[in-house]
Amino acid sequence: MAKKLCIVNNDFSFPELPGSLLSSGGKRTLQEQVEEFLGSGRCYLTSCGFAALYLILKVLKEANPGKTDVIIPAYTAPGLVLPIRKLGLTVVLCDVSLATFTMDTARLSRLVTDKTLAVVPVHMFGIPMDIAGLHKAIGGRAIIIEDCAQSLGSEIDGKKTGSLADISFGSFGRGKNFSVYHGGFLALRSPALQREIDAQYASLPACLFGSQLKTMVQHSVFSFITQPSLYGLSSLLTNRLKSKSEQQDFSLSAMGKMHARYAGALFGLWCRHYRKRIENGQRLHARLRDMQGIWVPEYPSRSEIAFNRFPVLVDDLNAKTKLMRELAVNGIESSSMYEAPVHCKWDLDYNPKDLPDAEYFAEHLLTLPTHGLVTEKMINTIGEVFQRILGH
Ligand SMILES: Cc1ncc(COP(=O)(O)O)c(C=O)c1O
Repeated sequence: MAKKLCIVNNDFSFPELPGSLLSSGGKRTLQEQVEEFLGSGRCYLTSCGFAALYLILKVLKEANPGKTDVIIPAYTAPGLVLPIRKLGLTVVLCDVSLATFTMDTARLSRLVTDKTLAVVPVHMFGIPMDIAGLHKAIGGRAIIIEDCAQSLGSEIDGKKTGSLADISFGSFGRGKNFSVYHGGFLALRSPALQREIDAQYASLPACLFGSQLKTMVQHSVFSFITQPSLYGLSSLLTNRLKSKSEQQDFSLSAMGKMHARYAGALFGLWCRHYRKRIENGQRLHARLRDMQGIWVPEYPSRSEIAFNRFPVLVDDLNAKTKLMRELAVNGIESSSMYEAPVHCKWDLDYNPKDLPDAEYFAEHLLTLPTHGLVTEKMINTIGEVFQRILGH
């Protein structure tokens, strides 16, 4: 069976995983390692990214009675709505920019009102948003919560995403830059909310032993079957098992201690490899940026992007289908990611066509793998496929 590259994967190869787990004795905890990686502040480990956002919003809601609105991008992980709604808060959507591929800062300033509790800029695909610029745009009228679920390792002005705003959260879920199948974190840079966050965090239930064990087994199995030498065969099965239904809830607990030890043993290994995402993203950008009929994101200045996936907008939908098919023939998995914008997934009092750029995005987006198992040869193959299909 020919090799096949999964769209998401660890940045290290599978045989490195057991060695790293076995030699983990005496290493620092995951919490300490993430705190050091982000460079400042205090980190709290949670069951998932949405649980971390829930904790943050709960504390902010209690501290700001009367403020009810939370602004998120109109094209992002649709589940971002879940923690907001669970707290009885209102989701407000901001359209995305077809230039930066992230939330459109110019449109955002018009959406902020006296009712805005928080703005959640998402570093989509790993592309860092200019948080300092965002602060200026909203002029202190709302709290900024950075969502770095897809951007662990990205930097702007020498600072890691997750350390740009006073408060941020991220994910260690399946398909994330550093993944242990489930898990998340909250990072706090300012002492202002620490007492309240400490209290909320202390009230979280512990994660059950059985579910921690299940997650570790899932991560190991996923890492094994997505090896390029096996994925050609195993994807025949995993594609059938993929859930097509929308996430309806999320687990709300602290990250289990045993699972956190497992993750802590792998974090150092990941740190040695994640920069391949930055290199692969630069190579893809250089190969694709001047091609007609597609758009790639602008590179924010002074940034290094640890791409979660590399996003491309393909104008002609027939060409997009052909590209995906031809990439698959060449052993490279690509994906449309979220197939509808947030307002088309949930009933949020928006009409179709209200957020035109997010709608264009959902239809025309094609994402390419950037993880550490992607080689320069595969990137050349991707470039050749694009050249052939787009007729250059
Ligand atoms: C942008 C974004 N934010 C938040 C999350 C939530 O992370 P988790 O699945 O760990 O709850 C995700 C996960 O897909 C995401 O992509």
